[in-house]
Amino acid sequence: MLGDPVEGRRALQYGTTRGDVKLRKALIRLLEKTEGVAPGSFDEAQHRLVVTTGSQQLLYLVTEALVDPGDIVLVESPTYFVYLGLLKTFGARAVGIETDDDGLRPDRLEDALAEIDARGELDRVKLIYTISEHSNPSGLSLAEEPSG
Ligand SMILES: Cc1ncc(COP(=O)(O)O)c(C=O)c1O
Repeated sequence: MLGDPVEGRRALQYGTTRGDVKLRKALIRLLEKTEGVAPGSFDEAQHRLVVTTGSQQLLYLVTEALVDPGDIVLVESPTYFVYLGLLKTFGARAVGIETDDDGLRPDRLEDALAEIDARGELDRVKLIYTISEHSNPSGLSLAEEPSG
């Protein structure tokens, strides 16, 4: 690619925030293949796909887009400590939701939402942050069906 004067120049420039359009198209094709659907099925998702240098950058971008100072973010407890630091930077209030062997407890989530609603702050809830597969630090994965 670098030997090609047009592609080579492009490759050595800064890209767009969303990521290279050819890469995004290729990722969409890969996703379609992985999901076993016909090529083109996910075309409409292309403009919503963002390529980042890692999940940390994506967490930053999503939080920057959605969270204002004083907003509430519900997080499973325990959660990835670096994300708690990021929320602090944005002035967000992190509210921990208890987990069990099935991951985040939906009943505790409902309790927390009811409590926040009773305080008249439901509109300040902007995100629920859960790591659904092999959470850090617990290693738990969210169950497909609630237990009990
Ligand atoms: C839950 C979680 N999110 C994000 C990250 C950061 O990932 P990345 O290196 O892709 O930015 C880590 C790294 O340990 C992690 O455990």
